[in-house]
Amino acid sequence: MSTADDQKRAAGEAAAALVENGMAVGLGTGSTAAWFVKALAARKLDIVGVPTSVATAELAASLGIRLGELGPITSLDLTVDGADEIGPALALIKGGGAALLREKLVWEASKRCIVIADAEKRVPMLGKFPLPIEVVAFGHETTALRICDALAECDLGVAPRLRIKDGVPVKTDGGNLIYDAACGRIEDPALLADALKSVTGVVDHGLFLDLADMALVGTPEGVVTIE
Ligand code: 5RP
Repeated sequence: MSTADDQKRAAGEAAAALVENGMAVGLGTGSTAAWFVKALAARKLDIVGVPTSVATAELAASLGIRLGELGPITSLDLTVDGADEIGPALALIKGGGAALLREKLVWEASKRCIVIADAEKRVPMLGKFPLPIEVVAFGHETTALRICDALAECDLGVAPRLRIKDGVPVKTDGGNLIYDAACGRIEDPALLADALKSVTGVVDHGLFLDLADMALVGTPEGVVTIE
């Protein structure tokens, strides 16, 4: 019987095997992405890694991966990253690690994106995992009220909650705050994505739609590929 961590590791190693010399590679954030970064470093390829968070940058640098930055690097060959939920058509919820904005920027600059996860992350419908929403700190309480209205427009009668850790609001690498919306069931992810993006003060949300090209999911029977 494999543990979730065994499955994350197997998925990360399977993704690392797909990286080729000379690639610019987006490095995701979280425990599954960390397995990918470790397996990638072990291959000692001539690649440049573009990290999606300070934590991933520190891990990759400590393992000897050459790092570059999004901006100077405008196009990446491949990004590999974890997810909190993988729904139908590879629609995802991300942002459990508060890195969703940098992740989405790197994903959108990538020719190919692979999501890696353990089997528990696959769901028939998105929404059980509270949806992370990144919000600018200035006036965030008023932004939260307008997020409520946007959620209500999508028939989601839930109030987003400010993410708190160790008694203080969680700040992203960009200095923003995270609200989590326990939607339960997201019947129309595209409608919700548009509604949230239209709220002033919302920087981005954790719905990753039409971005993943492939999923590598660790299961007790081995790594399953979903395209
Ligand atoms: C960070 C993320 C992570 O990829 C997501 O939270 C999954 O994390 P883990 O691999 O630790 O389960 O989106 O913002």
